[in-house]
Amino acid sequence: MRILMIIVLVGQFSWVCARERVRIIPVPASVEWRKGEYKAAIHGAPEVWLREQVEVVVSPDRMRFPSDESYRLEVSPAGIRVEARHEKGHFYGLQTLAQLMKVSRSGVMRIPSVRIADSPRFAYRGLMLDVSRHFYPKAFILKQLDAMARYKLNTLHLHLTDAAGWRLQIDRYPLLTEVAAWRTHREWKPWWNGDRNYLHRDTPGAQGGFYSKDDMREIIRYAAERHITIIPEIEMPGHSEEVLAVYPELSCTGMPYHHGEFCPGKDTTLAFIKNVLTEVMDLFPSRFIHIGGDEANKSSWEKCADCQARIHDHGLHNEKELQSWFVSQVGSFLRQNGRRLLGWDEIIEGGIPAGATVMSWRGEGGGAAALLTGQHAAIMSPGEYCYLDAYQDAPHTQPEAIGGFTPLEKIYSYEPFGTVAHRVDRDSMLGVQANLWTEYVSAEAHAETMLWPRAMALSEIGWSKAENKSYSLFRKAALREVDYLKAMAYRPFELKNELGNRPAAKSRVSHKALGKRVAYLAPYAKVYAAGGDSALTDGWRGGWTYGDGRWQGFISPRRLELVIDLDQVTRLKSVALDFIQSEGAEVYLPAGFTVEISEDGESYTRLYHQQFEVVKTGAVAFRTCEWKGRARARFVKISAQSSKELGGWIFTDEVIVE
Ligand code: ACM
Ligand code: ZN
Repeated sequence: MRILMIIVLVGQFSWVCARERVRIIPVPASVEWRKGEYKAAIHGAPEVWLREQVEVVVSPDRMRFPSDESYRLEVSPAGIRVEARHEKGHFYGLQTLAQLMKVSRSGVMRIPSVRIADSPRFAYRGLMLDVSRHFYPKAFILKQLDAMARYKLNTLHLHLTDAAGWRLQIDRYPLLTEVAAWRTHREWKPWWNGDRNYLHRDTPGAQGGFYSKDDMREIIRYAAERHITIIPEIEMPGHSEEVLAVYPELSCTGMPYHHGEFCPGKDTTLAFIKNVLTEVMDLFPSRFIHIGGDEANKSSWEKCADCQARIHDHGLHNEKELQSWFVSQVGSFLRQNGRRLLGWDEIIEGGIPAGATVMSWRGEGGGAAALLTGQHAAIMSPGEYCYLDAYQDAPHTQPEAIGGFTPLEKIYSYEPFGTVAHRVDRDSMLGVQANLWTEYVSAEAHAETMLWPRAMALSEIGWSKAENKSYSLFRKAALREVDYLKAMAYRPFELKNELGNRPAAKSRVSHKALGKRVAYLAPYAKVYAAGGDSALTDGWRGGWTYGDGRWQGFISPRRLELVIDLDQVTRLKSVALDFIQSEGAEVYLPAGFTVEISEDGESYTRLYHQQFEVVKTGAVAFRTCEWKGRARARFVKISAQSSKELGGWIFTDEVIVE
């Protein structure tokens, strides 16, 4: 009887759900609900069955279908019709249907009657996965491609090469995968903090891996079936320690381990790059080839005779121009082969290489500069919004991450035209991308948790019209999609358990120093001013990351020293400051904390002093330093110092006086 009841209830539940207005991710351009529903008993896998039932119509009408990805979907009791000018549109119509349909346990499918007209806002909707810091097997990539297709993401950028391992078979340079793909530790962190040694793949215990050309062909084909382009990234001229470990003649010194940069002064370097890219282009059909270009340390070039000769011969002025010259050479080579160069925003520092497309990660400035030339396209991927290696919830509830705080809502709030609206050719803004760097992400389950559901927010920024966005409706739909992904054996972040920002940061605090003047005896750093002289008495406390604009940073000198003027002699019960530690960014708790008071601002009495041991814990940490007691004063002087051993930054958010 009980089992019968459950079956009946489950059946009714699906029936009720089927008639609910399902919120699709990404939200379509226009949705018109109609009366009734499509209902049928299905046989076999629902997706396969559905594909056979749908009437597919091809229309050449470019007004109704502005992009190959546009589609119109009509569901009625009589049937289902998807219309598009291209099979991409038909494919996306089916993805929308997959979110609309409900299948009961007894095998009855129901889809509410609806008319949807849909088209993407941006042509490029990307995810980047760093497979160098940790290698993920082919099956993992294929699984993520399935989820990407469901949310209409159309580009997977693979960061295939970096210091931590070269991940692609290149026939001409076998040492790249015989040695440079293998290291002494499975986890990146102890390897990076240790000797950073590579091993021959046959060495017992060697850790790593790479994609054979056959593996990669399979990934590319699987992606193409889902209308996803795979963009390969081959890093240059920086982040190339692994190449120089096995081909040290390509560095300035000819020695491995000294620098991570190729020598752009040597012709052999360009020959190597062209040979590698030739094999890469044979394998990957994508129009864009990503050449990295970020974070090249140019100090070895300053001392290298070959690099200096190159600068001289080409009338360049400095090493940044040398980088742009090098990138331009690579860009011309790609263009001769019918491809386009894509690179991180550093590639424009010495002048924008002809024809290059810029992927903007250090904020939006690089992308905006490229767009404002009127000659270059850009993809926005600003770290503050689009980096999935940051914490997505309270750090103490999450596995160790690189730092930062990028919850679902933060990504969702990103507007690609926020800083460059109306000033640029809108078609040159190709779109957006979220990046999962994997220094701290070794397990596949962890990578999935970092990707989903946050990549759904990226999909909605990339696909949906800004005026159709709503975080509360999106979040509800994301909760449903998290359950769907779990049912499909993914391990997404449990959005329903999300705690959100640091409780102290959620509302403004009132206290006796609120709005009072602060005199700095040691200056705060301009880049972390958090609002300037009033930051520490504005009532706003910081969240889970020192970079959220609420925390004020001190670096030079490595101490904090300030006086608050309470305007009149005031009764005091407590003086408290919070400090944050975030080791990845060399932000540490203070080693010493002192409170002094004065009635006249000249002679001070020490109220409180404490020394602390500052220890690395790997996690983001907080400490409240507080004096409690009874006192009277007009001026309160606070000082705090970095530890001698660790140095680094000090950050605090508010001086709370009661
Ligand atoms: C980057 O995050 N270095 C592109
Ligand atoms: Zn050199």
